[in-house]
Amino acid sequence: MNGLAISDFIAALPKVELHVHIEGTLTPALRWKLAHRNSITLPYATYEDLEASYAVTLNHRPELNGRQPGIPTFLEAYFAGCEVLRTEGDFYDLAMAYLRRCAAMNVRYAEPFFDIQAHTRRGVPATAVLDGYLRAQHDGADQLGVHSRWIMCFLRDEPVEQGLAAYAEARPWAAGTVEGGKGLFHAVGLASNAYERPPMLFEEGFTLAQADGLHVTMHCDFGQKDTHAHMNEAIFQVRNGQGSERIDHGLDAEDQEELWQGLIDRKIGLTLCPHAYHRRTATEVLFPKIRRLAERGVQICINSDDPTLMHDVWIDGNMQKVYTYCGFSKGEMVQLARNAVDMCWAEEEIKHDIYEELRKVDISE
Ligand code: ADE
Ligand code: ZN
Repeated sequence: MNGLAISDFIAALPKVELHVHIEGTLTPALRWKLAHRNSITLPYATYEDLEASYAVTLNHRPELNGRQPGIPTFLEAYFAGCEVLRTEGDFYDLAMAYLRRCAAMNVRYAEPFFDIQAHTRRGVPATAVLDGYLRAQHDGADQLGVHSRWIMCFLRDEPVEQGLAAYAEARPWAAGTVEGGKGLFHAVGLASNAYERPPMLFEEGFTLAQADGLHVTMHCDFGQKDTHAHMNEAIFQVRNGQGSERIDHGLDAEDQEELWQGLIDRKIGLTLCPHAYHRRTATEVLFPKIRRLAERGVQICINSDDPTLMHDVWIDGNMQKVYTYCGFSKGEMVQLARNAVDMCWAEEEIKHDIYEELRKVDISE
């Protein structure tokens, strides 16, 4: 795994994943299969060419760094992958493949993000997306023992009105207090390109979701332009000044006391994805930064983001990275896993079972 072997201890640790984009788990193999199933021509002559395209380092901040000819941006590559997803069965297969992988990695519970707008804007019916994920949510729990509650993301680089319309369309699949809601998603999030798209633009979406009894989280990408201002909005301004319930990434809070103290005071946890940052940040800079946040008392948990577009590093690989490079003890790693249980929006019974499992983990060094 990206230069590190996953230890038996990390592999066996019961896990909770709170930051994974389901579309970012599409493997080259499933993409190839779905392209054939749907008679879609991919811009790769062979499967090997497709696979090789996943090994490249993508351009992450074209607005800041300029475009590199021939190199897609990260999000271009991500949305290009979505092209092969067309039918209810495709979305089901994608989600079940992820949940099967969860079972193999000892992930007991997950809260995957989905981007409904990425599909409806291509003409895919919302029902295909939502029914596919809903069926996988049920089968994942019944057949694999992997429970999940999903998060509908607003695409922040699309018009706000389009996001609100997507929410209205997806609402019958929500949980919370939505009458007759099918229980797929329990929260809304905010994803895609954050460039000049601060969280407060989506305040109406957050308050609508909150009024429906849903949870609210939002991305504050690491190293984005205006990242500290975005964090300020996410901690102190959204939801009529209550702040977000969680923040996805948010690592830049470490730079400013007002921000990290705000996270502590308001009990806002961060869903970190270390490998995502490690692709572009030196080991000696990144892991001490993560460690400092934890030592100051900010609640953090470890996740994967878009594993197939991030060198096939999944939650276990991300945990191995902090275990190795932050120098955390086994006890501290169990605490990180426990933080994810604290931060998650699972049923109390499921949380209880995972806490019990974690209590039994052997932490002798
Ligand atoms: N949507 C999917 N992956 C994302 C990422 N890494 N950052 C922002 N939005 C995303
Ligand atoms: Zn993310």
